[in-house]
Amino acid sequence: MKRKRKKRRLRLRYEGVKFITYFLAVLFLIIYTITNSIKAYNHYQYTKTDEYKIQTMGYSLEETKDLLKIMTKDIKEFLLTTPKEDIYYTITKQKYFLAKNYLEYIEYQKSHQDTSLNEIIALVNTHASDGWYNNTYKTDLSKNEQILVNKFYQLDENFKRDDLINIPLMYSYSGNMASQEVINNYIEMHKKVKEELGITLMVNSSFRTYQDQEEIYKQFSSKGKEYADSYAARPGFSEHQTGLAIDITSTANPTSNAFKESNEYTWLKEHCHEYGFIHRYPEGKENITGYNTESWHFRYVGKKIATQIYNEGITFDEYYAYYIEK
Ligand code: DAL
Ligand code: ZN
Repeated sequence: MKRKRKKRRLRLRYEGVKFITYFLAVLFLIIYTITNSIKAYNHYQYTKTDEYKIQTMGYSLEETKDLLKIMTKDIKEFLLTTPKEDIYYTITKQKYFLAKNYLEYIEYQKSHQDTSLNEIIALVNTHASDGWYNNTYKTDLSKNEQILVNKFYQLDENFKRDDLINIPLMYSYSGNMASQEVINNYIEMHKKVKEELGITLMVNSSFRTYQDQEEIYKQFSSKGKEYADSYAARPGFSEHQTGLAIDITSTANPTSNAFKESNEYTWLKEHCHEYGFIHRYPEGKENITGYNTESWHFRYVGKKIATQIYNEGITFDEYYAYYIEK
């Protein structure tokens, strides 16, 4: 009797263990299946994201995450339909990169393989890659001292600032006018040059009307259009019409050739930003400004911006594209 009960107990225990084992096995299977299904579902969802799709084109996860930050519909389409090239990512890491110009950079690079990425960015940002005067826009007058006038941004024929005044004859040859603020800062700079170098600066051209510019451009044109365009702006496209530009020379070195070699020119290039001016057409930037370097032409933009332009070694065209227009 006792043995029978013991046997029954043992059988019951065995059944219990068996049940629990089955139960755990089934539970494990269920959990395993659910977990895998969730994983598969999540992966399926991930394959529908841009992050996944961009990576399938060969970009690393880090590159992809950076590219996603600049992604527009057009950029996405381009990246997903074009076999990867390093430049498609590296260009986004250049200092003056603007996402809105991405496809233009790429297009330009295709036909200018020897041009550096920085230069491509500068050329496209400033429209220089379009070719001089090919696409022109009315400039934004609300920018005040930061009005951009170059071979793409123009002024109306009748544009004239209402704060133009004559530059006193101590500082300028006769008949020159500029904005009051420009003159005040120029006078400060003039005094400093006198004090430091014993040199007297003189303005020999400043505000010019549309008609004045027409005349100047015509004069240069006698030596051919290309020559004229490398020295003079076409009417409506001259900074001189803004009243914010001054051409400077000195009584000691009045000719442009002498001035170019003078200490005062060297001084101005290094210090004019302290007075709100920039050397507007520097050497080595002809492909951005569209003009041969002009040792005489200085443009007022205000101290803060002039200093930034000086420190970054860029032209006003580049500054405007990147920091103002964006
Ligand atoms: N010489 C400068 C570019 C002008 O004509 O405005
Ligand atoms: Zn000038």
